[in-house]
Amino acid sequence: MSIEANVNQGADAVPMFLRDVWYMAALASDFARGAMRRVILLGEPVVIGRMRDDRVFALRDICPHRGVPLSAGRVMTENTVECPYHGWRFRGDGVCSAIPSLVDGQDMDPARIRVRAYPAREQDGLIWIYMAANDRSSDTPKSEPPKVGVPNAKVRWVESQTFRCNIDHAVIGLMDPAHAPYVHGRWWWKVSPRLKEKHYAPLPTGFVMTRHQPSKPAYKMFGGDVSTEITFELPSIRFENIAGTVMGRRIDVVGLTTCTPIDAETTQVTQIFYWPGWMSFLKPFFMLLGPIFLSDDRKMVELQREGLKFNPNLMLIQDSDVPAMWYHRLKKAWADAVASGKPFVNPITERTLRWRS
Ligand code: FES
Ligand SMILES: [Fe+2]
Repeated sequence: MSIEANVNQGADAVPMFLRDVWYMAALASDFARGAMRRVILLGEPVVIGRMRDDRVFALRDICPHRGVPLSAGRVMTENTVECPYHGWRFRGDGVCSAIPSLVDGQDMDPARIRVRAYPAREQDGLIWIYMAANDRSSDTPKSEPPKVGVPNAKVRWVESQTFRCNIDHAVIGLMDPAHAPYVHGRWWWKVSPRLKEKHYAPLPTGFVMTRHQPSKPAYKMFGGDVSTEITFELPSIRFENIAGTVMGRRIDVVGLTTCTPIDAETTQVTQIFYWPGWMSFLKPFFMLLGPIFLSDDRKMVELQREGLKFNPNLMLIQDSDVPAMWYHRLKKAWADAVASGKPFVNPITERTLRWRS
């Protein structure tokens, strides 16, 4: 056994939350026209909503006048958000469009007042929010949110749980290949540890476990001849792309797992599945097993808190913890690139990992 790194080493140098990246913030279907909701993202209060013209928006949920949450106000017919305290109105780009108390002759231009606006996108049934390093609301994103790689991707199944842990432990817990027999094993879902050998390659901001025949029992529910590829990209986006032939028909099933930091001690973990309409027979399995398996992971990181309270040194070992080491390296490289303004260089190189699980 070689111990490659202590997880805590240099942790201070890397901020807990990465900036200049997209976070999955909500399900698009949760927002009818005129609806809005307060969320905390990366420790910041954000009101997410949908204007009357159907566009989604995300604003800092603090009225610049006297600090009242805008989420307690109303979405107006002219596509603004009205603060409940003095009725100031803000457009989706954060610019103030009305201050009702002003009277003729009072020389004040509301448009000079802004609340921070976060770039927001509705895509694949999800709302993505860009958390820029620079908090000027005029910032335009340097990238677009990750796309689900199937046409007309429709959300078929979702499970979202709040993990009482920081984003790093949530991400590492989900990418950790060695925990399955212990955390997810059950008398009716027996996973006996076997030797695994998987090939990995770098991606623009992460890495991929290249396409292979899956060995997990979960795939048995698909039957047929399927293969899978699992990608991880910063800040915390995991795609599982399952493709093949089932019952003589071509399938493309995509599982997306996102970890979105609420604050330093809380992370929202969401699993979303996309599959072709004719495969809706999968839904009962997911409804039954999905919440159980995600709860397994949640309970383990919450148990981990009991140890982490005492700030112990931790270990990362070969090869089963290599994805976790890669996560730390990617995160550091990204944070350095954002801080220095230099281009991000992916520190991962192609490699085959072997472990027993
Ligand atoms: S506090 Fe929002 S308008 Fe006064
Ligand atoms: Fe797990």
